[in-house]
Amino acid sequence: MIPLRNIVNILFLVQIVVGLNNDLERTPAMGWNPYNAFLCSTTEEQYLTAASNLIDTGLKSLGYEYFNFDCGWQGTNRTASGTITWNETRIPSGIPALGQHVHGLGFKFGVYSDAGYYSCDFVNGQAHWIGSLGYELSDAKTFTSWGADYLKYDNCYSVIVFSFPSSNNADSSKSKPHYTAMRDALAGTGRPVAFSMCEWGVQDPARWAPAVGNSWRIANDIGPPPSWDNVFRIINQVVPITGFAGPGAWNDLDLLEVGNEGLSVAEQASHFAFWAAAKSPLLVSTDLTSPAESTLTILKNTRIIALNQDPLGTSITFKRRYTNDYDVWAGPLADGSTVAVLLNWQNSSRSLTFDLSDVGFESAEAIDLWTGDNLGLIKAKQVVQLTLYSLPF
Ligand SMILES: *[C@@H]1O[C@H](CO)[C@@H](O)[C@H](O)[C@H]1NC(C)=O
Ligand SMILES: *[C@@H]1O[C@H](CO)[C@@H](O)[C@H](O)[C@H]1NC(C)=O
Ligand SMILES: *[C@@H]1O[C@H](CO)[C@@H](O)[C@H](O)[C@H]1NC(C)=O
Repeated sequence: MIPLRNIVNILFLVQIVVGLNNDLERTPAMGWNPYNAFLCSTTEEQYLTAASNLIDTGLKSLGYEYFNFDCGWQGTNRTASGTITWNETRIPSGIPALGQHVHGLGFKFGVYSDAGYYSCDFVNGQAHWIGSLGYELSDAKTFTSWGADYLKYDNCYSVIVFSFPSSNNADSSKSKPHYTAMRDALAGTGRPVAFSMCEWGVQDPARWAPAVGNSWRIANDIGPPPSWDNVFRIINQVVPITGFAGPGAWNDLDLLEVGNEGLSVAEQASHFAFWAAAKSPLLVSTDLTSPAESTLTILKNTRIIALNQDPLGTSITFKRRYTNDYDVWAGPLADGSTVAVLLNWQNSSRSLTFDLSDVGFESAEAIDLWTGDNLGLIKAKQVVQLTLYSLPF
């Protein structure tokens, strides 16, 4: 489970088009979200710092353009007229001013709310921050008046006031109408707002969400803390639903953990490459004030970014698992080539044999997407020995 995944680029093509007709996210969203680094403890100062970090590190110019909020900005009460509002201690300049600042820096601005009575976190055991249930029309207007270009919409306290819905609970089926209500409310504002559904995969959203949101979380949180086991779990969960992703409608494998403690550098790289190839949104979620060099090396790999943003917008699909050994995944790209992903499930750096017939080829011209190295012509019968290695950090 360490170093070694390798991505090899070969040839061929197919086309799929699905999606919510708001014309947004024709390729997966790229950007930033605070949650994996700061949980719900966010302040205006952190947001301002993160926005400049994204520019100074060069991430923004590589396409990380959505600057998104997560939980913790809200107040505990609406205004007297029922308008959703912010915590003035945490966001002293106010959300509209922060949105303007972020737009001024050239970002798109993402807000966060919840499809339930309350948003996720609690204080002293009590549900606390307000959610949007029953206020969809009003909140959609408020968010767009603040300049929102994106809404992450969580699912806490969505059925009863006192608890999170359980994934095993028939009540989870009630979340769909909450999401369609907000979709319609956003559409009614006339402002294009990318809609990021976060119901954690509890109601099998891939089967209905392409008509509702631009992306849907497929699984429970990756962290914090992240772990390779969580990455393994999420990769397994996407196996049956890769075919539902397409332009404007993506499987969201969750915020990135690149840069955070809990995954080795090689595991972070594997996680990033897999998310990119599965066409998940790529939302950086680490403190960028003094990032490790490896963090930026991973996040700034332009070949892997281009793979994620490939205009064909087709996810890799699962081809074969060699038990406790490695996986082979592959999918088509717009230029007619095929991307193949080899995921090493062993906890050591090693070479392994890539049998091209696992992705349906007899021979191919191959490029290693991590390094850009041209591997030349490889042939199926003469099975190729790819060296899978730790990244050169
Ligand atoms: C606002 O945030 C501060 C600082 O985190 C917290 O102490 C306070 O309880 C919050 N107020 C409301 C109304 O949520
Ligand atoms: C704020 O909301 C809480 C419950 O969420 C309620 O108990 C309290 O009375 C409200 N406070 C004000 C000033 O409206
Ligand atoms: C993987 O190997 C490293 C050291 O080589 C060890 O620290 C770590 O615990 C191993 N992880 C697992 C899941 O076995």
